[in-house]
Amino acid sequence: MVIVMSSVIFSAKASNTTAASLAILIVTVLQALGPGAGWTQEPVQPRIDEEFAKQEKIYRRRGGGSYTTNRGLSDYAEVLPTGFCDALGRLGSSDRWLDIGAGEGQAILDYYTQQGDAAPAEKCRTSGPKARAVAISIEDRRTDKWKQQGASLGDDRIQYLSGKRLRQYSPDELGKFQIITDVYGGFTYTENLSRFLEKVLSLLEIGGAFYTVLPAVHLEDGTDKLGTWYKTELVDAASRPVKVCSWLRQTTCTKISCESKTDWDEPTQLIKIDKVCSDVAVPRTNLVEYMAGAPPSRRFQMAP
Ligand SMILES: C[S@@+](CC[C@H](N)C(=O)[O-])C[C@H]1O[C@@H](n2cnc3c(N)ncnc32)[C@H](O)[C@@H]1O
Repeated sequence: MVIVMSSVIFSAKASNTTAASLAILIVTVLQALGPGAGWTQEPVQPRIDEEFAKQEKIYRRRGGGSYTTNRGLSDYAEVLPTGFCDALGRLGSSDRWLDIGAGEGQAILDYYTQQGDAAPAEKCRTSGPKARAVAISIEDRRTDKWKQQGASLGDDRIQYLSGKRLRQYSPDELGKFQIITDVYGGFTYTENLSRFLEKVLSLLEIGGAFYTVLPAVHLEDGTDKLGTWYKTELVDAASRPVKVCSWLRQTTCTKISCESKTDWDEPTQLIKIDKVCSDVAVPRTNLVEYMAGAPPSRRFQMAP
């Protein structure tokens, strides 16, 4: 922190000798006080770019050894917070549902298949009109089934977008949604948690909700078992552990609900975020560690 601060001061005030002397004085005093002076920032892991490169390969991997990309609507009903299916069932035909990190888009296919009753998603039966649904995935995992159903329903009802990450879409490209889901997708994989959430909330209509799930985290109610290998960890500016739900609760214009399943081995937080007004501000997180995987292991530090 001292090094960053001194270089910032020096670059801004290089021509001003009085300011430069002052900067040297501040740096010297902070160094003398030791690392506890100012705020503590965890060092960023060396060679983090190598982990990002490995992660890219995981996204592109196919067949055995790749990650799960075909969860259906029943699976979504199981892993997402209570009320997801009811909320989906209440959508009208001009409403919109975005599934971030949709993989093959099986959940959306199941939702639309219910109309013909061919393969109803038992645990998430919705009757009535179907909302327009958009699936996004970094890599194109569309199956023949998706291509057939997409062709018969038309782009206006189901759409599959791939080739980039959520943050790379402009607001106009995606539009706004009443429901956004993310099942072991971007929220579990992103290297920038706060920017990801900010983007999600910017795409939600006021009154809309984001349903997601985060595996291997410190649970809000503290019921996680000893010996867990945590995959997403968060610390505050002074490096004290922070639970994901406590961090989320500091986001303005949202209502946060956190649940967990007592019978699951891995402590998993089921999260619903309601957007209640437009002035959303997400407390910033910085990445300090990242290890590629399915899902990756990540450690974030909240900005002071
Ligand atoms: C493990 S798969 C999950 C697929 C599906 N939700 C399921 O449960 O079967 C992860 C998905 O998240 C996508 N993904 C990860 N990070 C993303 C991001 N930042 N933006 C968009 N998609 C992302 C991947 O491309 C992939 O489609």
